[in-house]
Amino acid sequence: MFKIAVLISGGGSNLQSVIDSIENGFLNCKIEAVVSDNIKAGGIERARLKGIKTIVFDKRELKGSLSDKILEAIGEVDLIVLAGFLSILKGEIIKRYKDRIINIHPSLIPSFCGNGMYGIKVHEKAIGSGVKFTGCTVHFVDDGTDTGPIILQRVVPVMSFDTPKTLQSRVLEEEHKILPLAIKHIINNKIEINGKRVIIHD
Ligand code: GRF
Repeated sequence: MFKIAVLISGGGSNLQSVIDSIENGFLNCKIEAVVSDNIKAGGIERARLKGIKTIVFDKRELKGSLSDKILEAIGEVDLIVLAGFLSILKGEIIKRYKDRIINIHPSLIPSFCGNGMYGIKVHEKAIGSGVKFTGCTVHFVDDGTDTGPIILQRVVPVMSFDTPKTLQSRVLEEEHKILPLAIKHIINNKIEINGKRVIIHD
Protein backbone atom coordinates (compact mmCIF):
# COMPACT_ATOMS: atom_id res chain seq x y z
CA MET A 1 0.00 0.00 0.00
CA PHE A 2 1.25 3.50 -0.95
CA LYS A 3 2.02 5.37 2.27
CA ILE A 4 1.75 9.12 2.76
CA ALA A 5 2.41 11.60 5.55
CA VAL A 6 0.35 14.78 5.57
CA LEU A 7 1.84 17.91 7.14
CA ILE A 8 -0.48 20.68 8.33
CA SER A 9 -0.46 23.95 10.28
CA GLY A 10 -4.11 25.01 10.27
CA GLY A 11 -7.71 24.01 9.78
CA GLY A 12 -6.90 21.02 7.65
CA SER A 13 -9.54 21.29 4.95
CA ASN A 14 -6.99 20.06 2.40
CA LEU A 15 -6.16 17.17 4.71
CA GLN A 16 -9.90 16.46 4.81
CA SER A 17 -10.02 16.36 1.01
CA VAL A 18 -7.34 13.65 1.08
CA ILE A 19 -9.14 11.69 3.82
CA ASP A 20 -12.43 11.91 1.89
CA SER A 21 -10.73 10.84 -1.35
CA ILE A 22 -9.37 7.74 0.36
CA GLU A 23 -12.76 6.95 1.90
CA ASN A 24 -14.62 7.30 -1.39
CA GLY A 25 -12.10 5.16 -3.26
CA PHE A 26 -10.59 7.91 -5.44
CA LEU A 27 -7.21 7.44 -3.77
CA ASN A 28 -5.62 4.09 -3.05
CA CYS A 29 -3.23 4.94 -0.25
CA LYS A 30 -2.89 5.13 3.50
CA ILE A 31 -2.18 8.18 5.64
CA GLU A 32 0.55 6.89 7.95
CA ALA A 33 0.69 10.07 10.00
CA VAL A 34 -0.55 13.63 10.16
CA VAL A 35 2.14 15.99 11.42
CA SER A 36 1.39 19.49 12.69
CA ASP A 37 3.90 22.23 13.51
CA ASN A 38 1.18 24.05 15.45
CA ILE A 39 -0.37 22.67 18.62
CA LYS A 40 -3.59 24.58 17.87
CA ALA A 41 -4.12 23.32 14.31
CA GLY A 42 -7.76 22.33 13.80
CA GLY A 43 -6.68 19.62 11.39
CA ILE A 44 -5.25 17.52 14.24
CA GLU A 45 -8.79 16.77 15.38
CA ARG A 46 -9.85 15.77 11.85
CA ALA A 47 -7.08 13.15 11.87
CA ARG A 48 -7.84 11.92 15.37
CA LEU A 49 -11.50 11.48 14.49
CA LYS A 50 -10.42 9.03 11.79
CA GLY A 51 -7.97 7.19 14.03
CA ILE A 52 -4.95 8.48 12.07
CA LYS A 53 -1.70 8.79 14.01
CA THR A 54 -0.95 12.43 14.85
CA ILE A 55 2.44 13.92 15.63
CA VAL A 56 2.37 17.45 17.00
CA PHE A 57 5.35 19.78 17.28
CA ASP A 58 5.56 23.32 18.53
CA LYS A 59 7.58 25.15 15.92
CA ARG A 60 8.33 28.03 18.28
CA GLU A 61 10.25 25.64 20.51
CA LEU A 62 12.00 23.60 17.82
CA LYS A 63 13.00 26.34 15.38
CA GLY A 64 15.97 25.01 13.35
CA SER A 65 15.45 21.33 14.18
CA LEU A 66 11.81 20.97 13.04
CA SER A 67 12.62 19.40 9.66
CA ASP A 68 14.91 16.77 11.19
CA LYS A 69 12.35 15.95 13.88
CA ILE A 70 9.68 15.44 11.22
CA LEU A 71 11.98 13.22 9.16
CA GLU A 72 12.61 11.06 12.20
CA ALA A 73 8.97 10.95 13.30
CA ILE A 74 7.33 9.93 10.02
CA GLY A 75 9.43 6.82 9.44
CA GLU A 76 9.51 5.64 5.82
CA VAL A 77 6.68 6.86 3.60
CA ASP A 78 6.27 7.05 -0.18
CA LEU A 79 5.14 10.68 -0.32
CA ILE A 80 5.00 13.71 1.96
CA VAL A 81 2.04 16.01 1.33
CA LEU A 82 2.21 19.61 2.60
CA ALA A 83 -1.44 20.56 3.06
CA GLY A 84 -1.44 24.09 4.42
CA PHE A 85 1.91 23.52 6.16
CA LEU A 86 3.53 26.86 6.90
CA SER A 87 7.06 25.95 7.97
CA ILE A 88 9.80 25.70 5.36
CA LEU A 89 11.37 22.23 5.24
CA LYS A 90 15.16 22.20 5.14
CA GLY A 91 18.15 19.91 5.14
CA GLU A 92 18.10 16.14 5.07
CA ILE A 93 14.34 15.67 4.53
CA ILE A 94 14.55 17.63 1.24
CA LYS A 95 17.40 15.41 0.03
CA ARG A 96 15.97 12.09 1.24
CA TYR A 97 12.53 12.87 -0.20
CA LYS A 98 13.68 14.53 -3.44
CA ASP A 99 10.69 14.57 -5.86
CA ARG A 100 8.58 12.93 -3.14
CA ILE A 101 7.28 16.04 -1.33
CA ILE A 102 4.39 18.05 -2.75
CA ASN A 103 2.79 21.30 -1.62
CA ILE A 104 -0.50 23.07 -2.33
CA HIS A 105 -0.31 26.85 -2.75
CA PRO A 106 -3.35 29.14 -3.14
CA SER A 107 -2.18 31.09 -6.20
CA LEU A 108 -0.96 30.50 -9.72
CA ILE A 109 2.77 30.14 -9.06
CA PRO A 110 5.01 32.09 -9.81
CA SER A 111 2.56 34.87 -8.84
CA PHE A 112 1.86 35.65 -5.19
CA CYS A 113 4.19 33.09 -3.67
CA GLY A 114 7.53 32.86 -1.89
CA ASN A 115 8.59 33.85 1.59
CA GLY A 116 5.81 35.21 3.78
CA MET A 117 3.11 34.60 1.18
CA TYR A 118 0.53 32.40 2.82
CA GLY A 119 -3.07 32.43 4.00
CA ILE A 120 -5.26 35.45 3.37
CA LYS A 121 -2.24 37.59 2.36
CA VAL A 122 -2.03 35.74 -0.94
CA HIS A 123 -5.61 36.70 -1.84
CA GLU A 124 -5.18 40.29 -0.62
CA LYS A 125 -2.20 40.64 -2.94
CA ALA A 126 -4.07 39.07 -5.85
CA ILE A 127 -7.01 41.46 -5.47
CA GLY A 128 -4.70 44.43 -4.83
CA SER A 129 -2.72 43.71 -7.98
CA GLY A 130 -5.81 43.82 -10.18
CA VAL A 131 -5.35 40.40 -11.78
CA LYS A 132 -8.47 38.99 -13.39
CA PHE A 133 -7.53 35.38 -12.68
CA THR A 134 -5.85 33.62 -9.80
CA GLY A 135 -6.03 29.99 -8.73
CA CYS A 136 -4.01 27.31 -7.01
CA THR A 137 -0.97 25.16 -7.67
CA VAL A 138 0.32 21.75 -6.58
CA HIS A 139 4.07 21.54 -6.99
CA PHE A 140 7.04 19.48 -5.92
CA VAL A 141 9.06 20.91 -3.07
CA ASP A 142 12.72 21.72 -3.60
CA ASP A 143 15.09 23.75 -1.45
CA GLY A 144 13.47 27.08 -2.39
CA THR A 145 10.09 28.48 -1.34
CA ASP A 146 7.36 27.59 -3.86
CA THR A 147 9.98 27.07 -6.59
CA GLY A 148 9.72 23.34 -7.38
CA PRO A 149 8.25 21.82 -10.57
CA ILE A 150 4.54 22.52 -11.04
CA ILE A 151 2.29 19.44 -11.20
CA LEU A 152 -1.22 20.90 -11.52
CA GLN A 153 -2.87 24.30 -11.54
CA ARG A 154 -6.49 25.45 -11.54
CA VAL A 155 -7.66 28.90 -12.56
CA VAL A 156 -10.21 30.90 -10.57
CA PRO A 157 -11.58 34.23 -11.89
CA VAL A 158 -11.33 37.28 -9.65
CA MET A 159 -14.74 38.98 -9.62
CA SER A 160 -15.34 42.70 -9.08
CA PHE A 161 -17.26 41.95 -5.88
CA ASP A 162 -14.59 39.65 -4.42
CA THR A 163 -13.06 40.26 -1.03
CA PRO A 164 -9.95 38.33 0.02
CA LYS A 165 -12.25 36.01 2.00
CA THR A 166 -14.67 35.20 -0.82
CA LEU A 167 -11.78 34.65 -3.20
CA GLN A 168 -10.01 32.43 -0.67
CA SER A 169 -13.05 30.19 -0.33
CA ARG A 170 -13.47 29.74 -4.12
CA VAL A 171 -9.76 29.00 -4.52
CA LEU A 172 -9.97 26.51 -1.64
CA GLU A 173 -12.71 24.58 -3.47
CA GLU A 174 -10.28 24.05 -6.35
CA GLU A 175 -7.43 23.14 -3.99
CA HIS A 176 -9.59 20.34 -2.66
CA LYS A 177 -9.81 18.90 -6.20
CA ILE A 178 -6.22 19.22 -7.42
CA LEU A 179 -4.44 18.03 -4.29
CA PRO A 180 -6.04 14.55 -4.35
CA LEU A 181 -5.67 14.44 -8.14
CA ALA A 182 -1.93 15.17 -7.95
CA ILE A 183 -1.52 12.44 -5.33
CA LYS A 184 -3.43 10.03 -7.57
CA HIS A 185 -1.11 10.76 -10.53
CA ILE A 186 1.92 10.13 -8.32
CA ILE A 187 0.51 6.87 -6.91
CA ASN A 188 -0.25 5.68 -10.44
CA ASN A 189 3.25 6.61 -11.64
CA LYS A 190 1.89 8.98 -14.27
CA ILE A 191 4.36 11.76 -13.56
CA GLU A 192 7.62 12.50 -15.30
CA ILE A 193 9.79 15.40 -14.16
CA ASN A 194 11.86 17.01 -16.87
CA GLY A 195 13.77 19.93 -15.34
CA LYS A 196 11.14 22.45 -14.26
CA ARG A 197 8.43 20.79 -16.34
CA VAL A 198 6.15 18.01 -15.19
CA ILE A 199 4.60 15.79 -17.82
CA ILE A 200 1.50 13.83 -16.86
CA HIS A 201 1.06 10.64 -18.86
CA ASP A 202 -2.68 10.11 -18.74
C1 GRF B 1 -4.74 26.66 1.91
O1 GRF B 1 -5.15 27.77 1.17
C2 GRF B 1 -3.40 26.20 1.43
O2 GRF B 1 -3.23 26.32 0.06
C3 GRF B 1 -2.51 27.16 2.13
O3 GRF B 1 -3.05 27.31 3.41
C4 GRF B 1 -4.46 27.04 3.36
C5 GRF B 1 -4.69 25.93 4.32
O4 GRF B 1 -5.97 25.50 4.39
N1 GRF B 1 -1.14 26.79 2.02
P1 GRF B 1 -6.35 24.17 5.17
O5 GRF B 1 -5.58 24.15 6.49
O6 GRF B 1 -6.01 23.00 4.32
O7 GRF B 1 -7.83 24.31 5.42
